[in-house]
Amino acid sequence: MTRLMVLNGPNLGRLGAREPEVYGSTTHDDLAAAVEKWATDLGVQVETRQTDDESQLVGWLHEAVDSRSHVVLNPAAFTHYSYALRDAAAQVTTAGLLLVEVHLTNPYARETFRHVSVIGPVATGTVAGFGIDSYRLALEAIAARV
Ligand code: DQA
Repeated sequence: MTRLMVLNGPNLGRLGAREPEVYGSTTHDDLAAAVEKWATDLGVQVETRQTDDESQLVGWLHEAVDSRSHVVLNPAAFTHYSYALRDAAAQVTTAGLLLVEVHLTNPYARETFRHVSVIGPVATGTVAGFGIDSYRLALEAIAARV
């Protein structure tokens, strides 16, 4: 069965409480439950994780390579400056696995510092701006390609 990791970066554990006018009222637990349901419907196996820690995210990307898991990654603020995360994400795609960068919001419609993604150039593709549906679209894109 196709394996998939949904990895969420810093502050996404605060979903629901964090700037709900920007990020919506869905909590991270709600998001994980929705992801689980979508994955079941698509016939893929998924695990959703969240961390505020850059080195943990890097380690999870290494784990994805070693376990042959595709990745849906919301790098959150690391999107805009973490070369360590970019280098780890590149290892996923160069290993022939799919990595979809996702964002709840559309970073290009927000502050200038959010207009740069250092992850985008090494990702298979990016889905942004559709709230938690960004994750559903990313799962569907991966399921359609494997
Ligand atoms: C985000 C966008 C980032 O700019 C921000 O730092 C986040 C969330 C999003 O999902 O819209 O934490 O990745």
